[in-house]
Amino acid sequence: MKSATLLTLILIGCVAGDGAWKENTVYTYRLSAKTYKHLSQSNTDLIGVISRAYLSIRPQSADLLIGQITQAEYGKVTHKIAEETNWDNEKLENYRLEKPFAIHMDNGVIRSLSVDNSTSNYEINQLKVIVSQLQVDTNAQNHIGFSDNQLPRKDRDNAFYKTMEPLVTGNCETVYDISPIPDYVIQSHPELAPLPELKGADQFIQIAKSRTYDNCHETSGYLLDIAGRKDSSAVKMGQNRFHLNEKRRIVISGTLENYTIQSSVTTNEVRDDNSTILSDYVNVTLQSVEPSSNYSQFTLENMKNMKNIGNLVYNYDSYPTTPPTTVTPESKQFVTSNVSGPTEHSTSCWTAFPTASTLCKSEFGPEFADIKTHSCGFLELGKQALCRLSCE
Ligand SMILES: *[C@@H]1O[C@H](CO)[C@@H](O)[C@H](O)[C@H]1NC(C)=O
Ligand SMILES: *[C@@H]1O[C@H](CO)[C@@H](O)[C@H](O)[C@H]1NC(C)=O
Ligand SMILES: *[C@@H]1O[C@H](CO)[C@@H](O)[C@H](O)[C@H]1NC(C)=O
Ligand SMILES: *[C@@H]1O[C@H](CO)[C@@H](O)[C@H](O)[C@H]1NC(C)=O
Ligand SMILES: *[C@@H]1O[C@H](CO)[C@@H](O)[C@H](O)[C@H]1NC(C)=O
Ligand SMILES: *[C@@H]1O[C@H](CO)[C@@H](O)[C@H](O)[C@H]1NC(C)=O
Repeated sequence: MKSATLLTLILIGCVAGDGAWKENTVYTYRLSAKTYKHLSQSNTDLIGVISRAYLSIRPQSADLLIGQITQAEYGKVTHKIAEETNWDNEKLENYRLEKPFAIHMDNGVIRSLSVDNSTSNYEINQLKVIVSQLQVDTNAQNHIGFSDNQLPRKDRDNAFYKTMEPLVTGNCETVYDISPIPDYVIQSHPELAPLPELKGADQFIQIAKSRTYDNCHETSGYLLDIAGRKDSSAVKMGQNRFHLNEKRRIVISGTLENYTIQSSVTTNEVRDDNSTILSDYVNVTLQSVEPSSNYSQFTLENMKNMKNIGNLVYNYDSYPTTPPTTVTPESKQFVTSNVSGPTEHSTSCWTAFPTASTLCKSEFGPEFADIKTHSCGFLELGKQALCRLSCE
């Protein structure tokens, strides 16, 4: 066991290299994401949110990348749809999220992010979802002891190892399975590596990462928020009722020590014993790699009022816990004779896609009906409602 650890350290020393990011370059990625709640066991009974944006990365040094999201758009899907519906031509709403942010690297792995101090917690979490796509620990920096580990080595492109990795969904045990992809596969699936010329004389390599939530040092509120706070007592990590399964496929070109991330696609599924409850999909695909000589806009000195927001694990933001005002029988009486009478505003941001009517009834009682709702929360996924006593 001891000699294996020693050997490991020496081998890690050998693979350290340029990593994924070259200075004086701007990498532009197309980003798309979908989150669906399944209303029944069928694959067409879904509601959810889709979003699209561009992500640019400007490496400043081996330890610092400057990122920016542009042209962010989102749309809510409130009617029943099929999972494989193509949304490419769908008109979406704009979402402002354009302030540059800094990604602090340590030997190829992402240690923390810094953002403008006006960035809301929801926006921070959105950035964490996106930046998590770019975490590729090809040096096995974060690896944990595991007898089957086959750590990366300079003379081969296959590897298999476990890491403990902080990503938006928590700091959890993550299995890496690395293998080369034959060129003909890329020819028939160009979406895996849209800029094949960057491979040069080297290879395409697939990095499959998978994790469940059975072994985490730090769990995250990500799924609590996505699955809906009102269900949150049931979505406790590690309990048996919900099974979480996260899979990423990252395709790089080059070598494990000097490469370009061509695409990174994540699917995350939340199941209970009987069926899929939520699916979450994030796709970050390379669009261009261009030389960039003008950094004046994108230096840390020019990014004022930055705050470090720590690692990539989702920040769970507690909502105000003021209980809804209790409704006295008198006011109920009053309302039955005056429909525009007392109203209650829901204090929670409901993210489990409830109907407005369910929301009012669950929050204030069965005699309440909805007047109107507005969006809130992560990706504008949530719903808050203005409710009133109904006159039945
Ligand atoms: C990811 O997005 C790109 C477009 O940006 C698309 O060509 C590709 O098919 C998507 N990949 C998957 C697996 O959906
Ligand atoms: C990394 O790869 C790029 C392009 O393939 C090449 O220009 C560069 O010299 C390589 N860097 C190292 C340190 O090998
Ligand atoms: C699974 O389905 C059974 C039968 O319909 C039901 O009794 C049980 O509560 C369901 N389990 C969950 C976790 O929803
Ligand atoms: C760099 O960009 C800034 C802002 O966009 C501009 O004012 C400046 O003239 C540019 N410098 C060069 C050398 O192109
Ligand atoms: C951001 O930081 C600046 C300077 O430190 C401070 O004046 C400002 O109040 C901060 N804004 C917020 C929203 O915290
Ligand atoms: C209904 O109640 C509101 C205030 O609660 C009051 O301003 C309004 O005049 C009432 N309308 C009627 C028709 O009684």
